[in-house]
Amino acid sequence: MPKIVIVGTGRIAWHLGRRLKAKGLPIAQVVSRTAEHAQALADTLHARWTNEWADVLPDADWLLIAVRDDAIAEVGAALAPHAPDALATHTSGATPGAVLQPHFRRFGVFYPLQSFSYEHSPVWSKIPFCVDAPTNEDVLFLKKIAKTIGNLVYRVDDGQRAFLHVAAVFANNFANHCFTIAEKILEEKDLPFEMLHPLMEETLAKALRDSPARMQTGPAVRGDADTVQRHLALLRSHPEWQELYQKLTMDINPELPF
Ligand SMILES: NC(=O)c1ccc[n+]([C@@H]2O[C@H](COP(=O)([O-])OP(=O)(O)OC[C@H]3O[C@@H](n4cnc5c(N)ncnc54)[C@H](OP(=O)(O)O)[C@@H]3O)[C@@H](O)[C@H]2O)c1
Repeated sequence: MPKIVIVGTGRIAWHLGRRLKAKGLPIAQVVSRTAEHAQALADTLHARWTNEWADVLPDADWLLIAVRDDAIAEVGAALAPHAPDALATHTSGATPGAVLQPHFRRFGVFYPLQSFSYEHSPVWSKIPFCVDAPTNEDVLFLKKIAKTIGNLVYRVDDGQRAFLHVAAVFANNFANHCFTIAEKILEEKDLPFEMLHPLMEETLAKALRDSPARMQTGPAVRGDADTVQRHLALLRSHPEWQELYQKLTMDINPELPF
């Protein structure tokens, strides 16, 4: 049984910690900079806790570093002298595994490609786990853990993961931002956002069934320039949405005249 130490106490630490424990992989220790956060998570995991980097378990097998992206290197540097033999992995999609290389002999990445929040329980069987490490032995270890708590496991190197993360921003954050704009447009006209729910569901269902490029409909792909112009006129009180509409339309159909 590996001695697992979770570093950090945010969304990922909470969800992964509980899932690992539920699947028979107990957490030995929670380490975090804020004592009450470390204690709160450790209490739910029945684990030890500390807010001193130097008190990390020296015989830890796996350090699961789940702190903010820009703190990973600094936290890794603080922990490494005290648990030098551990496999240290972070959980970030946007950060190279190599940020841990100057500090640890064994390092890697354990990135669950999903949006986690405190309010929702993740559907573990549908989360792609992207793992990577320089040695096959450590990759196998990470794959085995991912298979225990999930179902979809991929080996993805730093270069691939950087692009995967960009793609995820388009698929999740930007798509969600478009939903947000749609909601505000309807709100301004006293229409319920629920009216768009069936359309949103159908859009996603079709994009999952087939290539989204092939499934595109609407004025831009039809080349319906008059409708595009009317929409742009309707958006004149929101120049930022007007600009976004125009940019997306041009990207869908570069031949449309503006
Ligand atoms: N949330 C997601 O949907 C998601 C999905 C995939 C991957 N990830 C990755 O998982 C990692 C954690 O994300 P999260 O969403 O769990 O973050 P989060 O909920 O915002 O929690 C951040 C954690 O980082 C700690 N932290 C922040 N700055 C620090 C510093 N300078 N030194 C030490 N600790 C520091 C915080 O400690 P305090 O409690 O003391 O503030 C907290 O425990 C990130 O690398 C993120 O990219 C997140």
